[in-house]
Amino acid sequence: ASSADEKDLVIIGGGVAGYVAAIKAGQEGLKVTCIEKRGVLGGTCLNVGCIPSKSLLNNSHMYHAIKHDTKQRGIVGVEGVSFDLAKMMKAKDTSVTSLTNGIEFLFKKNGVEYLKGAGSFVNEHEIKVDLNDGGETSVSGKNIIIATGSEATPFPGLEIDEQRVITSTGALSLEKVPESMVVIGGGIIGLEMGSVWSRLGSKVTVVEFLNQIGGPGMDAEISKASLKTLKKQGIDFKLGTKVLGGDPSGDKIKLQVDAAKGGKEETIEADVVLVAIGRRPYTAGLGLENIGMELDERSRVIIDQEYRTKVPHIRCIGDVTFGPMLAHKAEEEAVAAVEYISKGYGHVNYGVIPSVMYTYPEVAWVGQNEAELKASDTAYRIGTFPFSANSRAKTNLDTEGMVKIIACPETDRLLGVHIIGPNAGEMIAEAALALEYGASSEDIARTCHAHPTLSEAFKEAAMATYSKAIHF
Ligand code: FAD
Ligand code: NAI
Repeated sequence: ASSADEKDLVIIGGGVAGYVAAIKAGQEGLKVTCIEKRGVLGGTCLNVGCIPSKSLLNNSHMYHAIKHDTKQRGIVGVEGVSFDLAKMMKAKDTSVTSLTNGIEFLFKKNGVEYLKGAGSFVNEHEIKVDLNDGGETSVSGKNIIIATGSEATPFPGLEIDEQRVITSTGALSLEKVPESMVVIGGGIIGLEMGSVWSRLGSKVTVVEFLNQIGGPGMDAEISKASLKTLKKQGIDFKLGTKVLGGDPSGDKIKLQVDAAKGGKEETIEADVVLVAIGRRPYTAGLGLENIGMELDERSRVIIDQEYRTKVPHIRCIGDVTFGPMLAHKAEEEAVAAVEYISKGYGHVNYGVIPSVMYTYPEVAWVGQNEAELKASDTAYRIGTFPFSANSRAKTNLDTEGMVKIIACPETDRLLGVHIIGPNAGEMIAEAALALEYGASSEDIARTCHAHPTLSEAFKEAAMATYSKAIHF
């Protein structure tokens, strides 16, 4: 049933998926409401994810570089450099609030109604909102988008208190540097947050079940290179090792670990344990049962290619449904889902979603890796170029890492690009563009790149893919 004040679109969740959809809908002239219960917009990404982690990564890196990497550069007088953790946290909070306030401004600018509260389905069109300030209201929509995001997967038997047993959220606001930290899970969160606290002086040990770090998608050769540099920076790794259980009752937290391949069981101790074993979709309190909506075996809302759930006017995007849990993927889906509603068509190329790990050096990739190509029996050839042969990396005294390009041997079309090195996260944009446009490695190699730039390593890796690099 529709009523006069029914909205064209109601969005539950004001994270990257939800807020971008709301702004886009406003721009498309739809009457739109966005419901967010956190009290601020921006979701995980802006409040306890991408943004605060990158602030701590940047500032801890600057501190670490000043402490360990000035002598060869002729910089003197910085002995005894130290840091003020509270101020570092404040700088992080300032970046977060300036961005979240910015979204509220964009809502106003685009005529988006913003309801602060928790939304739950009453029926297929009506949503009850428990307002943060008390009381409740309800709103109904011709179209609805579920964008409720994800949460950290808990480790069975280790209760999270965000002080000693923490998720990434606790790791973004510790009040002092723990003497020792064990990270369960050597994926992106474990390596980024492990890097932050290791640089600030904590003895960090990463325990990873697999024999490879970096989580799903990272190319094995690049992962190996990253492991080597992180070890050199002082992080310890226990690979192929499973955490069996933990006991936080004593002064130190005790963890039982077991070499996955039948090695010996041992107990390791830490002041703080970071649980970073993945994230899971979040739908608690959403009232999905009231609309008969079921989840898949990994608790994801099931959708079709137009983001429709089994109730066609209810769509779902971002971390709470299929695909990589990345902010830019959520953003692409938000624009496409709204375009499906307003225009009838939309598009996201899931083959070209870049990934970046913001450690030092950064690791970035887009497209397929070697293991994936082998698994699908796809022929490929490789071109690589090390930053040690790149002029800008040399002038910067920052030569660790390489660019690796994988292309089709018959057509030379790019299949994947994998980079470890300075500024890899920015450089990968060029690779994404090339893949999106169906470029060949020769197309890239014949595109003039400015000298001296790190991007020339990308160009030369492309040359090496179909012919030979000049400088290596
Ligand atoms: P979320 O951002 O989780 O937003 C969902 C929102 O919905 C939340 O604010 C929640 O309060 C709200 N909500 C839930 N239920 C209700 C309800 N019933 N009513 C009202 N509101 C509700 N990705 C990157 O691409 N790059 C990075 O560098 C990066 N770094 C990260 C670092 C960390 C430590 C973490 C944890 C994640 C990081 N991510 C990163 C992942 C990124 O944060 C997520 O992919 C992104 O936030 C997903 O957006 P979303 O809108 O789907 O979900
Ligand atoms: P992840 O899936 O990247 O890595 C989890 C790791 O934990 C895996 O390597 C897994 O093998 C390991 N593991 C699981 N159980 C284990 C156990 N019992 N003992 C030891 N190891 C175990 O998940 P993570 O790091 O928690 O991140 C979640 C998501 O957040 C990522 O998938 C990513 O999408 C997003 N994210 C993205 C960032 C970025 O883009 N820079 C930064 C941080 C998070």
